[in-house]
Amino acid sequence: ENQIHQDRPLKGKKIIISAGGTIESIDPVRFIGNRSSGKMGIAIAEAARDAGAEVTLVYGNVSVALPEGINLIKAESAQVMYEAIKKQFASSDALIMAAAVADWRAEKVANKKMKKQPDQQKLQLELVRNIDILQTIGQIKRADQLLIGFAAETNDLLENAQAKLAKKGADYIVANDVSQDVFGADQDQVVILSKNKKPEFWPRMTKQEVANKIIDELLESLKDDKK
Ligand code: CTP
Ligand code: CA
Repeated sequence: ENQIHQDRPLKGKKIIISAGGTIESIDPVRFIGNRSSGKMGIAIAEAARDAGAEVTLVYGNVSVALPEGINLIKAESAQVMYEAIKKQFASSDALIMAAAVADWRAEKVANKKMKKQPDQQKLQLELVRNIDILQTIGQIKRADQLLIGFAAETNDLLENAQAKLAKKGADYIVANDVSQDVFGADQDQVVILSKNKKPEFWPRMTKQEVANKIIDELLESLKDDKK
């Protein structure tokens, strides 16, 4: 049975959740983005709120309504999202990185709209690596804090997600096969990886159900460690 509607078991806990896709500017009117809708992260924020937690949602580009009853922080780029999360993290019990953070940003952001030359047939954009928020937080996280990441894969789901679990210092990775229709969809099928357990394959269910189960898992984990 779902524990989270029986009482408010996360009362007194502070949880940060990131959602949506980051936006990396090219010039004042253009950006590099991705297909994340923010649905999964927002569903997790609602589940955590309903379980009694004090929730902060750090969100990028989202295409669904923002929830009520939580702290909202808008953060468009990866760098701004990192700074917002870092500021909150020390005083938080958990971070759930559901955001689709851009791996790259334009090396130079034009401060005026870029114009085509009449005979120009090609444009090269130079991109540089963004900070990895999950991995950076993974390096500063205390033993009493819980870190949950996602993994979006089109192939070799388990191997790739397992590698991310190890590399990023996360307690859990929620792995997602994005070769099927996931972006903007209402349902999701995920595999949960953690350091101490075998991969757990969850059946296809709504993103709300996935969110509730992630919060159940977080609850168990905080309980086990007497956090
Ligand atoms: N993530 C992050 N900062 C980044 C990139 C990713 O915090 N700059 C987080 C995501 O929010 C997610 C996890 O890392 O929780 C995995 O993201 P994913 O894109 O699947 O993996 P990457 O590590 O970026 O590897 P790649 O895209 O090359 O597969
Ligand atoms: Ca990535």
